[in-house]
Amino acid sequence: MSADLIIHHIKTIYTPYKEVPVKGMDMREIKTIDDGYVAIKDGLILSYGNDSYDQYIGPNTELIDAKHKILLPSFIDSHTHLVHGGSREDEYGKIIQGIPYLDILNAGGGIHNTVNHTIQASFEELYDKAYKSLDLMLKTGVSVVEAKSGYGLELETEVKQLEVAKKLNDQHPIDLHSTYMGAHAIPKRYQLDKDKYVDEVMTDLNIIKNRNLASAVDIFCEDHVFSVNDSKKILSAASKLGFSIKMHADEIKSLGGTSLAVELGCSSVDHLMVITDLDIKKLASSNTVGNLLPGTSFYLNKAFAPGRKMIDQGVAISISTDYNPGSCPTENLLLVMQIAANKMKLLPEEILTAVTLNAAYHLGISDTNGSIEIGKLANVILLDAPNLNYVFYHYGINHVTDLWIKGKQVLRNQEIVRGK
Ligand code: NIG
Ligand code: FE
Repeated sequence: MSADLIIHHIKTIYTPYKEVPVKGMDMREIKTIDDGYVAIKDGLILSYGNDSYDQYIGPNTELIDAKHKILLPSFIDSHTHLVHGGSREDEYGKIIQGIPYLDILNAGGGIHNTVNHTIQASFEELYDKAYKSLDLMLKTGVSVVEAKSGYGLELETEVKQLEVAKKLNDQHPIDLHSTYMGAHAIPKRYQLDKDKYVDEVMTDLNIIKNRNLASAVDIFCEDHVFSVNDSKKILSAASKLGFSIKMHADEIKSLGGTSLAVELGCSSVDHLMVITDLDIKKLASSNTVGNLLPGTSFYLNKAFAPGRKMIDQGVAISISTDYNPGSCPTENLLLVMQIAANKMKLLPEEILTAVTLNAAYHLGISDTNGSIEIGKLANVILLDAPNLNYVFYHYGINHVTDLWIKGKQVLRNQEIVRGK
Protein backbone atom coordinates (compact mmCIF):
# COMPACT_ATOMS: atom_id res chain seq x y z
CA MET A 1 0.00 0.00 0.00
CA SER A 2 1.44 3.38 -0.91
CA ALA A 3 1.74 6.18 1.63
CA ASP A 4 0.58 9.78 1.24
CA LEU A 5 3.70 10.92 3.01
CA ILE A 6 6.97 9.44 4.23
CA ILE A 7 9.17 11.29 6.72
CA HIS A 8 12.63 9.78 6.30
CA HIS A 9 16.24 10.39 7.38
CA ILE A 10 15.05 10.61 11.00
CA LYS A 11 18.01 10.45 13.38
CA THR A 12 16.03 8.65 16.10
CA ILE A 13 12.34 7.90 16.70
CA TYR A 14 11.41 7.85 20.41
CA THR A 15 8.05 6.56 21.57
CA PRO A 16 6.45 5.09 24.68
CA TYR A 17 4.77 1.75 24.05
CA LYS A 18 3.79 0.16 27.38
CA GLU A 19 0.25 -0.73 28.39
CA VAL A 20 -1.79 2.24 29.71
CA PRO A 21 -1.82 3.74 32.24
CA VAL A 22 1.97 3.52 32.21
CA LYS A 23 2.97 3.29 35.85
CA GLY A 24 6.16 3.69 37.87
CA MET A 25 9.33 2.30 36.36
CA ASP A 26 7.55 1.41 33.09
CA MET A 27 7.36 5.14 32.37
CA ARG A 28 11.05 5.15 31.46
CA GLU A 29 10.67 2.20 29.07
CA ILE A 30 10.48 3.72 25.61
CA LYS A 31 11.26 2.42 22.14
CA THR A 32 14.12 4.07 20.22
CA ILE A 33 14.71 3.49 16.52
CA ASP A 34 17.76 4.98 14.80
CA ASP A 35 17.86 6.02 11.12
CA GLY A 36 14.12 5.72 10.89
CA TYR A 37 11.14 6.63 8.77
CA VAL A 38 7.42 7.12 9.38
CA ALA A 39 4.94 6.41 6.57
CA ILE A 40 1.53 8.09 6.77
CA LYS A 41 -1.73 7.36 4.94
CA ASP A 42 -5.18 8.95 5.40
CA GLY A 43 -3.95 10.76 8.51
CA LEU A 44 -2.84 7.54 10.21
CA ILE A 45 0.53 5.89 10.78
CA LEU A 46 0.85 3.27 8.06
CA SER A 47 4.28 2.04 9.08
CA TYR A 48 7.50 3.09 10.81
CA GLY A 49 10.89 1.58 11.44
CA ASN A 50 14.39 1.50 10.00
CA ASP A 51 13.90 -1.15 7.35
CA SER A 52 13.27 -0.30 3.71
CA TYR A 53 10.24 1.88 3.02
CA ASP A 54 10.34 1.36 -0.78
CA GLN A 55 7.12 -0.65 -0.70
CA TYR A 56 5.24 2.44 0.56
CA ILE A 57 6.36 4.73 -2.26
CA GLY A 58 3.71 5.27 -4.93
CA PRO A 59 3.35 7.87 -7.71
CA ASN A 60 1.77 10.42 -5.35
CA THR A 61 3.82 9.83 -2.23
CA GLU A 62 5.44 12.95 -0.79
CA LEU A 63 8.90 12.35 0.68
CA ILE A 64 10.03 14.64 3.49
CA ASP A 65 13.67 14.68 4.49
CA ALA A 66 13.91 15.03 8.28
CA LYS A 67 17.59 15.95 7.91
CA HIS A 68 18.55 13.85 10.93
CA LYS A 69 16.23 15.53 13.37
CA ILE A 70 14.58 13.38 16.04
CA LEU A 71 10.89 12.43 15.90
CA LEU A 72 8.44 12.03 18.81
CA PRO A 73 4.69 11.63 19.17
CA SER A 74 3.32 15.17 19.51
CA PHE A 75 2.56 16.43 23.01
CA ILE A 76 -0.77 16.54 24.84
CA ASP A 77 -1.52 19.39 27.27
CA SER A 78 -4.10 17.68 29.48
CA HIS A 79 -4.84 20.50 31.95
CA THR A 80 -5.42 24.09 30.82
CA HIS A 81 -7.77 26.96 31.56
CA LEU A 82 -7.48 28.03 27.93
CA VAL A 83 -10.54 30.23 27.41
CA HIS A 84 -10.67 33.32 29.65
CA GLY A 85 -10.82 37.10 29.50
CA GLY A 86 -8.09 39.51 30.50
CA SER A 87 -4.79 38.95 32.28
CA ARG A 88 -3.54 39.42 35.83
CA GLU A 89 -0.11 41.02 35.63
CA ASP A 90 -1.41 43.54 38.20
CA GLU A 91 -1.26 40.70 40.77
CA TYR A 92 2.27 39.62 39.89
CA GLY A 93 3.84 42.03 42.38
CA LYS A 94 1.82 40.37 45.17
CA ILE A 95 2.98 36.94 44.07
CA ILE A 96 6.61 38.08 43.96
CA GLN A 97 6.23 39.45 47.50
CA GLY A 98 4.90 36.08 48.66
CA ILE A 99 1.27 37.02 49.35
CA PRO A 100 -0.52 33.63 49.39
CA TYR A 101 -2.63 32.66 46.37
CA LEU A 102 -5.70 31.94 48.53
CA ASP A 103 -5.41 35.34 50.26
CA ILE A 104 -5.53 37.08 46.88
CA LEU A 105 -8.57 34.94 45.93
CA ASN A 106 -10.41 35.47 49.21
CA ALA A 107 -9.85 39.23 48.97
CA GLY A 108 -11.86 39.18 45.74
CA GLY A 109 -8.90 39.04 43.34
CA GLY A 110 -7.43 35.96 41.68
CA ILE A 111 -10.05 33.83 39.94
CA HIS A 112 -12.73 36.51 40.69
CA ASN A 113 -10.64 39.06 38.80
CA THR A 114 -10.67 36.81 35.71
CA VAL A 115 -14.37 35.98 36.20
CA ASN A 116 -15.18 39.70 35.84
CA HIS A 117 -13.14 39.95 32.65
CA THR A 118 -14.63 36.76 31.23
CA ILE A 119 -18.22 37.82 31.91
CA GLN A 120 -17.53 41.14 30.17
CA ALA A 121 -15.66 39.70 27.18
CA SER A 122 -17.52 39.01 23.94
CA PHE A 123 -17.48 35.58 22.33
CA GLU A 124 -15.14 36.94 19.63
CA GLU A 125 -12.71 38.42 22.15
CA LEU A 126 -12.47 35.14 24.02
CA TYR A 127 -12.13 33.23 20.77
CA ASP A 128 -9.35 35.45 19.37
CA LYS A 129 -7.36 35.38 22.62
CA ALA A 130 -7.61 31.60 22.97
CA TYR A 131 -6.79 31.10 19.26
CA LYS A 132 -3.50 32.93 19.80
CA SER A 133 -2.75 30.75 22.81
CA LEU A 134 -3.41 27.62 20.74
CA ASP A 135 -0.95 28.91 18.12
CA LEU A 136 1.71 29.24 20.83
CA MET A 137 0.96 25.71 22.02
CA LEU A 138 1.18 24.39 18.47
CA LYS A 139 4.66 25.88 18.18
CA THR A 140 5.87 23.78 21.13
CA GLY A 141 4.59 20.58 19.52
CA VAL A 142 1.15 20.24 21.12
CA SER A 143 -1.63 18.56 19.12
CA VAL A 144 -4.27 17.96 21.84
CA VAL A 145 -5.40 20.36 24.58
CA GLU A 146 -7.83 19.93 27.46
CA ALA A 147 -9.69 23.20 28.15
CA LYS A 148 -11.68 23.96 31.29
CA SER A 149 -14.45 26.45 31.86
CA GLY A 150 -14.69 27.98 35.37
CA TYR A 151 -14.41 31.72 34.81
CA GLY A 152 -18.14 32.36 34.64
CA LEU A 153 -19.38 30.79 37.87
CA GLU A 154 -22.83 31.23 36.32
CA LEU A 155 -24.33 29.21 33.52
CA GLU A 156 -24.35 31.81 30.76
CA THR A 157 -20.63 32.57 30.89
CA GLU A 158 -19.61 28.95 31.55
CA VAL A 159 -21.56 28.03 28.39
CA LYS A 160 -19.90 30.91 26.51
CA GLN A 161 -16.46 29.56 27.42
CA LEU A 162 -17.42 26.03 26.36
CA GLU A 163 -18.97 27.26 23.10
CA VAL A 164 -15.74 29.14 22.34
CA ALA A 165 -13.79 25.92 22.92
CA LYS A 166 -16.18 24.06 20.62
CA LYS A 167 -15.65 26.56 17.80
CA LEU A 168 -11.88 26.47 18.36
CA ASN A 169 -11.99 22.69 18.07
CA ASP A 170 -13.66 23.13 14.67
CA GLN A 171 -11.42 25.93 13.42
CA HIS A 172 -7.95 25.32 14.87
CA PRO A 173 -5.79 22.28 14.01
CA ILE A 174 -5.35 21.39 17.70
CA ASP A 175 -7.92 18.90 19.08
CA LEU A 176 -9.73 20.28 22.11
CA HIS A 177 -11.32 18.33 24.96
CA SER A 178 -13.64 20.43 27.10
CA THR A 179 -14.16 20.17 30.84
CA TYR A 180 -16.94 21.90 32.77
CA MET A 181 -15.50 23.49 35.94
CA GLY A 182 -18.36 25.54 37.39
CA ALA A 183 -16.94 24.55 40.79
CA HIS A 184 -13.75 26.57 40.33
CA ALA A 185 -14.47 29.16 43.04
CA ILE A 186 -17.45 30.27 45.11
CA PRO A 187 -19.03 33.19 43.25
CA LYS A 188 -19.35 36.42 45.20
CA ARG A 189 -23.17 36.21 45.17
CA TYR A 190 -22.98 32.96 47.17
CA GLN A 191 -20.05 33.85 49.44
CA LEU A 192 -22.24 33.28 52.53
CA ASP A 193 -24.18 30.31 51.16
CA LYS A 194 -21.84 27.97 49.37
CA ASP A 195 -24.32 25.07 49.45
CA LYS A 196 -26.66 27.00 47.19
CA TYR A 197 -23.91 27.27 44.61
CA VAL A 198 -23.13 23.56 44.90
CA ASP A 199 -26.82 22.89 44.15
CA GLU A 200 -26.69 25.28 41.19
CA VAL A 201 -23.67 23.47 39.74
CA MET A 202 -25.49 20.13 40.18
CA THR A 203 -28.40 21.49 38.15
CA ASP A 204 -26.15 23.01 35.50
CA LEU A 205 -24.38 19.67 34.98
CA ASN A 206 -27.54 18.38 33.31
CA ILE A 207 -27.68 21.33 30.94
CA ILE A 208 -24.02 20.99 30.00
CA LYS A 209 -24.60 17.29 29.37
CA ASN A 210 -27.76 17.79 27.29
CA ARG A 211 -26.02 20.39 25.14
CA ASN A 212 -22.95 18.15 24.80
CA LEU A 213 -20.62 21.00 25.76
CA ALA A 214 -18.07 19.02 27.79
CA SER A 215 -16.90 15.45 28.24
CA ALA A 216 -15.47 15.91 31.74
CA VAL A 217 -16.15 17.70 35.03
CA ASP A 218 -13.51 19.16 37.37
CA ILE A 219 -13.61 20.83 40.82
CA PHE A 220 -11.18 22.89 42.94
CA CYS A 221 -11.07 20.87 46.19
CA GLU A 222 -9.29 23.21 48.58
CA ASP A 223 -9.51 24.84 51.99
CA HIS A 224 -12.02 27.73 51.86
CA VAL A 225 -13.07 26.69 48.35
CA PHE A 226 -14.86 23.32 47.84
CA SER A 227 -14.62 20.62 50.50
CA VAL A 228 -14.13 16.89 50.01
CA ASN A 229 -17.87 16.49 50.66
CA ASP A 230 -18.80 19.10 48.03
CA SER A 231 -16.45 17.34 45.60
CA LYS A 232 -18.04 13.97 46.31
CA LYS A 233 -21.52 15.35 45.71
CA ILE A 234 -20.73 17.08 42.43
CA LEU A 235 -18.41 14.46 40.98
CA SER A 236 -20.70 11.52 41.86
CA ALA A 237 -23.56 13.27 40.07
CA ALA A 238 -21.31 14.06 37.11
CA SER A 239 -20.12 10.48 36.89
CA LYS A 240 -23.72 9.19 36.90
CA LEU A 241 -24.46 11.49 33.97
CA GLY A 242 -21.59 9.88 32.04
CA PHE A 243 -18.96 12.60 32.42
CA SER A 244 -15.39 11.62 33.02
CA ILE A 245 -14.37 13.22 36.36
CA LYS A 246 -11.22 14.85 37.72
CA MET A 247 -10.08 17.10 40.56
CA HIS A 248 -7.73 19.92 41.48
CA ALA A 249 -6.55 18.43 44.78
CA ASP A 250 -3.76 18.59 47.34
CA GLU A 251 -2.55 21.86 45.85
CA ILE A 252 -2.25 24.06 48.96
CA LYS A 253 -3.70 22.10 51.89
CA SER A 254 -3.99 18.34 52.07
CA LEU A 255 -7.69 17.60 52.61
CA GLY A 256 -8.01 14.02 51.34
CA GLY A 257 -8.89 14.93 47.75
CA THR A 258 -6.63 12.27 46.29
CA SER A 259 -8.32 9.52 48.34
CA LEU A 260 -11.66 10.71 47.03
CA ALA A 261 -10.38 10.78 43.45
CA VAL A 262 -9.30 7.14 43.78
CA GLU A 263 -12.57 6.16 45.48
CA LEU A 264 -14.68 7.78 42.73
CA GLY A 265 -12.50 6.51 39.86
CA CYS A 266 -11.37 9.93 38.62
CA SER A 267 -9.47 9.83 35.34
CA SER A 268 -6.86 12.18 36.83
CA VAL A 269 -6.14 14.04 40.04
CA ASP A 270 -4.20 17.23 39.43
CA HIS A 271 -1.61 19.40 41.25
CA LEU A 272 -0.66 17.14 44.23
CA MET A 273 1.98 19.50 45.64
CA VAL A 274 1.09 18.44 49.20
CA ILE A 275 -0.04 14.83 48.64
CA THR A 276 0.54 12.57 51.68
CA ASP A 277 2.60 9.36 51.61
CA LEU A 278 -0.54 7.33 52.28
CA ASP A 279 -2.33 8.92 49.32
CA ILE A 280 0.67 8.23 47.06
CA LYS A 281 0.19 4.53 47.90
CA LYS A 282 -3.55 4.72 47.17
CA LEU A 283 -2.90 6.43 43.87
CA ALA A 284 -0.30 3.83 42.91
CA SER A 285 -2.83 1.04 43.45
CA SER A 286 -5.41 2.74 41.18
CA ASN A 287 -5.73 3.65 37.50
CA THR A 288 -6.18 7.36 38.30
CA VAL A 289 -3.34 9.36 36.75
CA GLY A 290 -1.49 11.95 38.86
CA ASN A 291 -1.43 15.02 36.62
CA LEU A 292 1.50 17.22 37.76
CA LEU A 293 1.75 20.93 36.97
CA PRO A 294 5.31 22.07 37.74
CA GLY A 295 4.88 25.39 35.95
CA THR A 296 2.44 26.40 38.72
CA SER A 297 4.92 25.60 41.52
CA PHE A 298 7.57 27.51 39.62
CA TYR A 299 5.40 30.60 39.09
CA LEU A 300 3.88 30.68 42.60
CA ASN A 301 7.23 29.85 44.24
CA LYS A 302 5.72 26.79 45.93
CA ALA A 303 7.00 23.28 46.60
CA PHE A 304 6.97 20.93 43.62
CA ALA A 305 4.75 17.84 43.72
CA PRO A 306 6.85 14.80 44.75
CA GLY A 307 6.90 13.42 41.20
CA ARG A 308 10.06 11.36 41.71
CA LYS A 309 8.66 9.66 44.79
CA MET A 310 5.34 9.05 43.07
CA ILE A 311 6.92 7.32 40.08
CA ASP A 312 9.26 5.34 42.35
CA GLN A 313 6.18 4.11 44.21
CA GLY A 314 4.36 3.06 41.05
CA VAL A 315 2.01 5.96 40.24
CA ALA A 316 1.08 6.77 36.61
CA ILE A 317 2.04 10.42 36.01
CA SER A 318 1.15 12.96 33.34
CA ILE A 319 2.43 16.55 33.13
CA SER A 320 0.60 19.65 31.89
CA THR A 321 0.97 23.41 31.83
CA ASP A 322 -2.15 24.37 33.86
CA TYR A 323 -2.08 27.41 31.53
CA ASN A 324 -4.22 30.08 33.21
CA PRO A 325 -3.97 33.82 33.92
CA GLY A 326 -3.30 33.50 37.67
CA SER A 327 -1.12 30.61 38.78
CA CYS A 328 0.63 29.66 35.54
CA PRO A 329 0.50 32.25 32.77
CA THR A 330 2.41 30.28 30.15
CA GLU A 331 1.35 28.14 27.19
CA ASN A 332 4.81 26.63 26.92
CA LEU A 333 4.52 22.91 27.69
CA LEU A 334 8.09 22.28 26.59
CA LEU A 335 9.42 24.70 29.21
CA VAL A 336 7.21 23.03 31.83
CA MET A 337 8.67 19.65 30.82
CA GLN A 338 12.17 21.08 31.21
CA ILE A 339 11.21 22.37 34.71
CA ALA A 340 9.84 18.90 35.58
CA ALA A 341 13.18 17.32 34.71
CA ASN A 342 15.23 19.73 36.78
CA LYS A 343 12.94 20.35 39.76
CA MET A 344 11.12 17.03 40.11
CA LYS A 345 14.13 14.95 39.05
CA LEU A 346 12.18 13.12 36.37
CA LEU A 347 13.98 11.44 33.47
CA PRO A 348 13.43 12.59 29.88
CA GLU A 349 11.89 9.22 29.02
CA GLU A 350 9.45 9.48 31.95
CA ILE A 351 8.46 12.99 30.93
CA LEU A 352 7.91 11.90 27.33
CA THR A 353 5.53 9.16 28.55
CA ALA A 354 3.83 11.71 30.84
CA VAL A 355 2.99 14.19 28.06
CA THR A 356 2.01 11.61 25.46
CA LEU A 357 0.63 8.17 26.37
CA ASN A 358 -0.44 8.84 29.98
CA ALA A 359 -2.05 12.16 29.09
CA ALA A 360 -3.87 10.42 26.23
CA TYR A 361 -4.99 7.69 28.62
CA HIS A 362 -6.69 9.97 31.12
CA LEU A 363 -8.32 11.99 28.33
CA GLY A 364 -9.71 8.69 27.02
CA ILE A 365 -7.94 8.86 23.66
CA SER A 366 -4.99 6.48 24.05
CA ASP A 367 -6.34 4.12 21.39
CA THR A 368 -5.72 6.82 18.77
CA ASN A 369 -3.13 9.15 20.36
CA GLY A 370 0.00 9.24 22.48
CA SER A 371 2.49 6.97 20.74
CA ILE A 372 3.96 6.06 17.38
CA GLU A 373 1.98 2.96 16.54
CA ILE A 374 0.57 1.59 13.31
CA GLY A 375 -3.07 2.68 12.97
CA LYS A 376 -2.83 5.57 15.44
CA LEU A 377 -3.23 9.17 14.29
CA ALA A 378 -0.18 10.59 12.54
CA ASN A 379 0.42 13.24 15.21
CA VAL A 380 4.19 13.61 15.21
CA ILE A 381 6.88 16.25 15.75
CA LEU A 382 10.42 16.78 14.57
CA LEU A 383 12.90 18.40 16.94
CA ASP A 384 16.21 19.95 16.00
CA ALA A 385 18.14 18.07 18.67
CA PRO A 386 20.67 15.22 18.49
CA ASN A 387 18.87 13.10 21.10
CA LEU A 388 16.08 13.14 23.70
CA ASN A 389 18.29 14.19 26.64
CA TYR A 390 19.38 17.28 24.73
CA VAL A 391 15.79 18.55 24.55
CA PHE A 392 15.76 18.87 28.36
CA TYR A 393 19.40 19.80 28.88
CA HIS A 394 19.37 22.80 26.52
CA TYR A 395 16.52 24.37 28.44
CA GLY A 396 14.41 27.46 27.76
CA ILE A 397 14.73 26.68 24.06
CA ASN A 398 11.98 25.42 21.77
CA HIS A 399 13.54 22.60 19.76
CA VAL A 400 10.30 21.70 17.95
CA THR A 401 10.50 22.63 14.26
CA ASP A 402 7.75 20.62 12.54
CA LEU A 403 4.37 19.20 13.55
CA TRP A 404 1.89 17.02 11.69
CA ILE A 405 -1.62 16.58 13.04
CA LYS A 406 -3.58 13.71 11.47
CA GLY A 407 -0.96 13.60 8.74
CA LYS A 408 -1.32 17.28 7.85
CA GLN A 409 1.68 19.54 8.33
CA VAL A 410 0.68 22.45 10.57
CA LEU A 411 4.19 23.65 11.56
CA ARG A 412 7.14 23.84 9.18
CA ASN A 413 10.54 25.16 10.29
CA GLN A 414 8.83 26.77 13.30
CA GLU A 415 6.34 28.61 11.09
CA ILE A 416 2.63 27.81 11.30
CA VAL A 417 1.19 26.47 8.06
CA ARG A 418 -2.26 28.08 7.61
CA GLY A 419 -5.21 26.97 5.52
CA LYS A 420 -6.09 23.65 3.94
O1 NIG B 1 -5.24 25.19 38.53
N1 NIG B 1 -6.24 26.23 41.49
C1 NIG B 1 -7.22 26.61 40.87
N2 NIG B 1 -7.30 26.95 39.59
C2 NIG B 1 -6.20 27.29 38.74
C3 NIG B 1 -5.82 28.72 38.83
C4 NIG B 1 -6.86 29.63 38.34
C5 NIG B 1 -6.54 31.09 38.43
O2 NIG B 1 -5.78 31.53 39.32
O3 NIG B 1 -7.09 31.82 37.59
C6 NIG B 1 -5.06 26.33 38.92
O4 NIG B 1 -3.99 26.67 39.41
FE1 FE C 1 -5.80 24.22 36.97
